[in-house]
Amino acid sequence: VDGEGRRVFDLRAQEGRTDLGQGRPTRTWGFNGDHLGPTLRAKRGERVLVNVVNGLAEPTSVHWHGMHLPARMDGGPHQEVRPGATWSPTWTVDQPAATLWYHPHPHGQTARHVQRGLAGMFILDDEPTRKLALPHDYGTDDIPVIVQDRSFDGDGQIEDGGGTGDTVLVNGTVAPYLDVRTERVRLRLLNASAARTYSFGLSDGRRFTLIGTDGGLLPAPHDMSRIRLSPGERAEIIVAFRPDERVTLRSYPADLDNPVTDRFGGGRDTLDVLQLRTESNLAPSPAVPAALAPIERLDPGEAVKTREFTLSGRQINGKKMDMSRIDAVVTKDTTEVWEITKEDGTAHSFHVHDVQFQVLSVGGAPPPAELSGWKDTVLLAPNETVKIIARFADYADPDVPYMYHCHVLKHEDAGMMGQFVVV
Ligand code: C2O
Ligand code: CU
Ligand code: CU
Repeated sequence: VDGEGRRVFDLRAQEGRTDLGQGRPTRTWGFNGDHLGPTLRAKRGERVLVNVVNGLAEPTSVHWHGMHLPARMDGGPHQEVRPGATWSPTWTVDQPAATLWYHPHPHGQTARHVQRGLAGMFILDDEPTRKLALPHDYGTDDIPVIVQDRSFDGDGQIEDGGGTGDTVLVNGTVAPYLDVRTERVRLRLLNASAARTYSFGLSDGRRFTLIGTDGGLLPAPHDMSRIRLSPGERAEIIVAFRPDERVTLRSYPADLDNPVTDRFGGGRDTLDVLQLRTESNLAPSPAVPAALAPIERLDPGEAVKTREFTLSGRQINGKKMDMSRIDAVVTKDTTEVWEITKEDGTAHSFHVHDVQFQVLSVGGAPPPAELSGWKDTVLLAPNETVKIIARFADYADPDVPYMYHCHVLKHEDAGMMGQFVVV
């Protein structure tokens, strides 16, 4: 904490070397280390300042995915940090407790920078959540699970073209396992992969409890056996254990065998993600509370505008990203409905900066539990319209845009992105 009461973080993007099981070191990139970045953590109401230093030989940027903040602090393609330069965004955290993340967003280069290892979690806390009987002992019963897939070339180096990989890493580790010491564990799942959609479940078929999605806790826990996460999405789940077990968090072929999760998105694969090994004596954990965080539903009747976005062929509404074109002008402190449709056969994952939105409908039907809370990223099914609603509050800047885009990173890099300003 600095003299002005701000919580200060230092992040230095740098080159490194990591053992990723290739029989030789793999060249990786990391924040403050060889690979990935530290978990940042702040409380609602706190002012934060991050000193982002670019120790790479090329420009990068650092975007706070899921964070509600002024556009010039957002870390998108307009906030590039030159090699050797420092960028110091500051903002006040003002949103519910949630599992957010950070990653580079340089124009046209995001897939490469993320696949080389630049990503980390940004966990937000708040008072109401602190009072709930949820596992919250970081590293013991509250575990970050950053899931990424990688492919390696013949020299053991990362293939960074933005495709799916055949090796799953959790928090940068190959063949990971977790020693479980408590009866319940909260897993903060983050799909930080470039292109792969996962459908997570447990190897013995046991059910788990979904408690939160991208932007925070659900109003009530939801019992389920699979949770599908496309690139950029998060879920917080609680898994219950017995002593002396081995159970594996896996990714299964998606429930819907359709082109959304076709082979380019990895939707047909079964992959081991994280082995969970329980000890003989497990410390007791409280039952999952029946009520979590109330969510005030946004009212479509209050929307001042409905916009349509059609995704197809690396374009949105027939246009590729143009850094100098503003695609939408939103009025500050208004609510809008966005209708997003995809019209091609590949998987797309629609992400909006600045806001957490609510899903109104998927293909005309009410959203399933995993889409019923605060979201900033949503998987699109073919020929179905996903309707979302968001309130664009607090920050306005006519000169600096926010992004909306497909979070399949090579699609984003190829131009499947647009820009909006809030005025
Ligand atoms: Cu996770 Cu525009 O990004
Ligand atoms: Cu984002
Ligand atoms: Cu896409």
